[in-house]
Amino acid sequence: MAPPRRHCLLLISALGVFALNCFTKGQENSTLIFTKENTIRNCSCSADIRDCDYSLANLMCSCKTVLPLAVGRTSYNGHLTIWFTDTSALGRLLNFTLVQDLKLSLCSANTLPTEYLAICGLQRLRINTEAKHPFPEQSLLIHSAGDSDSREKPMWLHKGWQPCMYISFLDMALFNRDSSLKSYSIENVTSIANNFPDFSYFKTFPMPSHKSYVVTFIY
Ligand SMILES: *[C@@H]1O[C@H](CO)[C@@H](O)[C@H](O)[C@H]1NC(C)=O
Ligand SMILES: *[C@@H]1O[C@H](CO)[C@@H](O)[C@H](O)[C@H]1NC(C)=O
Ligand SMILES: *[C@@H]1O[C@H](CO)[C@@H](O)[C@H](O)[C@H]1NC(C)=O
Ligand SMILES: *[C@@H]1O[C@H](CO)[C@@H](O)[C@H](O)[C@H]1NC(C)=O
Repeated sequence: MAPPRRHCLLLISALGVFALNCFTKGQENSTLIFTKENTIRNCSCSADIRDCDYSLANLMCSCKTVLPLAVGRTSYNGHLTIWFTDTSALGRLLNFTLVQDLKLSLCSANTLPTEYLAICGLQRLRINTEAKHPFPEQSLLIHSAGDSDSREKPMWLHKGWQPCMYISFLDMALFNRDSSLKSYSIENVTSIANNFPDFSYFKTFPMPSHKSYVVTFIY
């Protein structure tokens, strides 16, 4: 009778480790980055902080100041929340970055010019413009073929300007509007620079033209 019992013990302890894993996973901190008066703070928060409450974030999260020049291309696993007040700071933080689950909160009444923010691998976007309009938060799910192979994504964004196959262009002027978030996706785009002349700046990035992209416009 001894061997079966040992098996049971083994199974129980394996289940225990599994449960512990699930538990700690659920507790994972989320990243909050905010820009305010030329300062960038990068925080790790265990709780949800009310949007644009800078002092609460400084109090509740573990934050460090990031020098603007030190901001390099990076990628974010899990949620990323950014509180911003103008397009240039947001562009420096996020343009051509890989983020799957993003929340953007505009924390000023500034009017933003039409300018596109390029985000790689985006699957869920939430926006909050409460500082400008009294509207509830909006959310958009981007269903793309990318959902099925999301595990592979970080592989093609190792360092620096790596190609990204699922690219979303976010029109910054959408933060001025009171209409709801909309998006459309185009599959099998082989050359972004040729198909969308407005995005000719793609010519300066190493995007292999033999690959095809899924391009999503969010407006
Ligand atoms: C913010 O912190 C996270 C986790 O420490 C890091 O991965 C990310 O690159 C940082 N972002 C910036 C802009 O410093
Ligand atoms: C999680 O966030 C809390 C503050 O909310 C902080 O004290 C802690 O160091 C963070 N943990 C990690 C792993 O960053
Ligand atoms: C993102 O980068 C492109 C190319 O450099 C630029 O044209 C665009 O204005 C940038 N967007 C933002 C929001 O900074
Ligand atoms: C994209 O290309 C694949 C393979 O060539 C094809 O099966 C698919 O139907 C195409 N999708 C669209 C939307 O054209």
